[in-house]
Amino acid sequence: MKGGGTAFRGVVLVGFMGAGKSSVGKVLAERLEAEFVDVDDRVERSAGRSIGEIFATEGEKAFRGMEKAAIREALSVSRRVVAVGGGAFLDEENRRLLKAYAPVAFLDVSWDSVIARLSGDRSRPLFPGGKEEGKLRDLMERRRPAYQEADFTVSTDNRPVSEVADAVSDLLARETCRGREGEGG
Ligand code: S3P
Repeated sequence: MKGGGTAFRGVVLVGFMGAGKSSVGKVLAERLEAEFVDVDDRVERSAGRSIGEIFATEGEKAFRGMEKAAIREALSVSRRVVAVGGGAFLDEENRRLLKAYAPVAFLDVSWDSVIARLSGDRSRPLFPGGKEEGKLRDLMERRRPAYQEADFTVSTDNRPVSEVADAVSDLLARETCRGREGEGG
């Protein structure tokens, strides 16, 4: 399915840190010939600072405000592949806007994969080198019900990025068919 087709509305990728939202989003956007928007990148570009710096100097609340603004901006253009940071879909208003924009795919990841993928990564303020693992694991479980409000779930464990992108693309194609069946009855 090409993004240029009339039925493609765009797609949103959500899920915990380390689920592969950005990597999958890039590949998926290429396949769909659509524009890829990484909301975290947009926040960093408009703030002129890294997310780590924003958390350190202004705190998480300020970051969440910037994230909300960047989401609105990302959704102002249709037919995009939009990846949001792991906390964005927890906010009810973000969730409503993202779901109204396009089908939402929850990229699911196991705790073991999160640890394997992110250990040694210092770029995430909520994942400072894998410290306080118990708290983070709880956070992941607490977030699950919100992530499950996505339109579909794709497991990313032990799957290369290209395979996850294929899975999302297939589910989108099915969703599009279902949408068409429901049209003009
Ligand atoms: C966050 C996840 C990060 C980033 C910020 C907060 C979170 O994005 O938005 O550090 O609350 O889970 P990724 O999910 O892309 O790592």
